[in-house]
This record gives sequence, structure tokens and C-alpha cells, in this order.
Amino acid sequence: MARYANPRCEQTRPLNDDIERVLVAEDALHARIREMGQTVSETYAGQDLLLVSVLKGSVVFMADLMRAITIPHEIDFMATSSYGSDTSSSGVVRILKDLNVSIEGRNVVIVEDIIDSGNTLSYLVRILQERKPATLRILTLLDKPERREVPMHVDWVGFSIPNEFVVGYGLDYAEVYRNLPYIGILKRSVYTPSE
Ligand code: IMP
Ligand code: MG
Repeated sequence: MARYANPRCEQTRPLNDDIERVLVAEDALHARIREMGQTVSETYAGQDLLLVSVLKGSVVFMADLMRAITIPHEIDFMATSSYGSDTSSSGVVRILKDLNVSIEGRNVVIVEDIIDSGNTLSYLVRILQERKPATLRILTLLDKPERREVPMHVDWVGFSIPNEFVVGYGLDYAEVYRNLPYIGILKRSVYTPSE
């Protein structure tokens, strides 16, 4: 019989043991997200605002960010998948779930967990621009500028980070580690098979 369980969910060692080091601690995340929420609230005060979160990595960030925003706003979700390896993306993007609402004439902010090569986001920006929003801005929790393959303007960045594979606070490796409350660098041994 086919087996669908994720073997990584069956491991009994603590998730923390797979982390090389904590890159952004819980306190620092929450302090920065409070600032970002304030910036968004000031920018869009008295105006229409729709936050678009890209599943699944940005859900934890989105949940905290929207509560740090003090003005009325709507949220919606999209899901994309990139054909690539587990730790890098290929630039070929597929829409798995589209928005429920029209964005024509609206102020849209794309809420991302991390911008790496920029492939996913540049594709998303292109298709959302075609729908004629009044404004379209990009807000990301993490940015890895060294890895950028597609130049793009990012309006708000929480933290610029070095070129390391990170997990936690929504970010996964093989669908696991999203529930860690901090951003941590994953031990290479987790994704490099031993000889
Ligand atoms: P990009 O298209 O290369 O910019 O990749 C963006 C997507 O790749 C993110 O939304 C994440 O899902 C994933 N990704 C990139 N870097 C990391 C990382 O360090 N940890 C976990 N996921 C990552
Ligand atoms: Mg991912």
C-alpha cells in the first residue's frame, strides 16, 4: 500500500536539534513586525488596503503582521509552487490557488516570507500588475539580496540575511520546521545526505 506519511514528522528528536544557530530570535521578530505594522498603518491610513499573502511560508508572519496593523484592511491568499529542488527555486512558477477577489483599482501589498532568487515574486508581480491594481507594493520579512537573479524593487524588508538556508516562523524544509518560533539556520547535515 502506498505510504503518504511524512517520515520527517515521525522523528522524535527535538526540532531545535536540527538548527545550527538562531538567526533572528522571537523577540527581534516581534519588535520588527510591530515597526512594519506601524509603517503600513501610516502609509495607508484612510485608504483601501488588501494584504496578499503567499502560502504557505508567509502565514505565520501574516498572522502577526495583520495584528500589528492598526487600520482596517482585507486579506487574501495565493499559493504558488516553483519547480525546483528543496532548497532553491527554478523560476518556473505555477499558481495553485488564486485570489478570491478582484484587485482592480485597489491598494495591494504582497506579503512574503522570504525573497531569494526573486523568481517567484517577479512572476507574481507581473500577473498581479496585469489586473490593474491602483498600487502594488512588496513587503517581505526576510531578504537574501546576494541570491537575487531577477532585479526588483522591494518596498519593505524586515531583515536582510546572509545566503544560508533558514527555517522556522513559517519557513519550511520538506514541509517541516514551520512551527519553530524563531528563524534558524538549518544544519547542513539535515539536507546533505551523508557519504
Ligand atoms: P525565490 O523564487 O527564489 O525568491 O524563492 C522564494 C521561495 O523559496 C520562498 O517563498 C520560500 O518558499 C523558498 N525559500 C527560499 N529561501 C528559503 C530558505 O532559506 N528557507 C526556506 N524556504 C526558502
Ligand atoms: Mg517553501
